[in-house]
Amino acid sequence: MGAPIPNDPRLKGVFKPMRFEATVEDCVVTQGEIPTDLCGGFYRVGPTWKRPTAQGTNGVLSMDGMLQSLVFENGRADYRNRWIRTPKYLLEEKHGRGMFEWTDGDFQDWRNFGWGNVKRNEFNQGIPQGTNNVNTFPFAGEILASGEQGGPPIALDPITLETRGIVRWSKDLATGVHDPAGRANGNGSGVIGAEDNPDAVFTAHPKWDADTNELIGYAWRDTIPFVTIHVVSPEGTVTSKVLHDAPYNTVAHDMWLTPDHIVIPFQPFIASTERIHEGLGFFGWDPELPIIICLIPRKGFPHAPVRYIEAAIEPEYIMHTLSCNVQDGKLTLDAPIFNRPPFPFEFDFNNGDETALFFNIARSTLGRWTIDLETGHATSERISDRPSELPKVDERSYGKGYRWGYLVGGEVKGDGMSMRSLMRMDMHNGSEEVFEIKHAVPGAVLEPTFAPRKPDAPEGDGYIIVPVSRFRENMGEYQVFDTDDITAGPVATIEIPFHTGWTPHGHWMDFR
Ligand SMILES: [Fe+2]
Repeated sequence: MGAPIPNDPRLKGVFKPMRFEATVEDCVVTQGEIPTDLCGGFYRVGPTWKRPTAQGTNGVLSMDGMLQSLVFENGRADYRNRWIRTPKYLLEEKHGRGMFEWTDGDFQDWRNFGWGNVKRNEFNQGIPQGTNNVNTFPFAGEILASGEQGGPPIALDPITLETRGIVRWSKDLATGVHDPAGRANGNGSGVIGAEDNPDAVFTAHPKWDADTNELIGYAWRDTIPFVTIHVVSPEGTVTSKVLHDAPYNTVAHDMWLTPDHIVIPFQPFIASTERIHEGLGFFGWDPELPIIICLIPRKGFPHAPVRYIEAAIEPEYIMHTLSCNVQDGKLTLDAPIFNRPPFPFEFDFNNGDETALFFNIARSTLGRWTIDLETGHATSERISDRPSELPKVDERSYGKGYRWGYLVGGEVKGDGMSMRSLMRMDMHNGSEEVFEIKHAVPGAVLEPTFAPRKPDAPEGDGYIIVPVSRFRENMGEYQVFDTDDITAGPVATIEIPFHTGWTPHGHWMDFR
């Protein structure tokens, strides 16, 4: 018998549980027509409640990851959603209950054990606690889901969404913030193979090179070495570089890729289990620390020396990157820039708001860090005053320079912002196009994703797909915009006949 759904504010609204797996063939198009040249899959992942943890509650990151796909071909779209069969999920299915509990004093908030330590016992020994619910991206013909911490990426079939298992290159990845899972004892999931490394982690926001098909990412943790860069070949060979001289233990959530460099920002958004022992939160904000931009050369990797640039930029925070350009010896790093990280710190909890999270406690607008590559001088500026986040680009341009950016725009709301419109930015001249995604009943406008019109279409020529979670109506929706003119509104609106929950991130996989 399934346990009742806890009366928990974290399981309401857009996080209302969606306790089923479905296939919707030939989805209903309520407006317009699906372009016949869209051929590929749009994948999203998010935390989706299945059952309570052993302690009865669920932080966002400890909810099981669910993959949702919308596969396009010949003007038709098919939807699927499937839980990701992580080792944690399979162990709990076998026993019919939550098999993990967080350790005392650790991560009792929204993160829960998705990123933190768990009590190890005879059943969960050797099983990573990760839920792989932060991002999903294509690599080497598969769809990977990564939670950034808690365990290695999981590979899934792009059509059936069947879980294939931990990526076989996990053995070559560095470990994350959590205590070791220990040795599997045979009571486990059956997913962990002899070569799997249950403690391995990989960023949720890697980049890839469309020419070499390499996946470029890293692992971070709160103890030395703080960051290890990983370049994964399509055959699964991992080349790594440990950043032995990384300046401090930053939460390294996203990166940039230039033709010459992997760029990792060290920002004063820090993470440390030591802080928990001091009675503070795992995450901290220490504006006394400088912003340090780390440039790792791609040519000569992993042997070429790394450069650290201490930027004389006032404290501010970038959660997600847009992209970057290099011109006339200047590197421009574009991203929505927050006044502070949109994560709750001890001083937020002291203010009494236990649900403080993300865009209701901080605000970002599109900005740019410019670095003189000769002198190392760095400056920061804002390009738009419209609140925005969830930045995306034409991913074929990763590492090559770019012109077009896509974001969810919004309005000022309290200390944060409400997200409600699609923005398309021309990064050459800073001009923006906006389309307000309005509904009679409030919903959640989620991260947009670009899909090219043709495999060889110029950068930014194609479609932008925006998921809209109409949770109050128990409906889901995808709006498809033509990049020729997003202000004309969606060229197709695809309806999903049930609640589709909250999915932080996703990507496009072209089938052509
Ligand atoms: Fe993210």
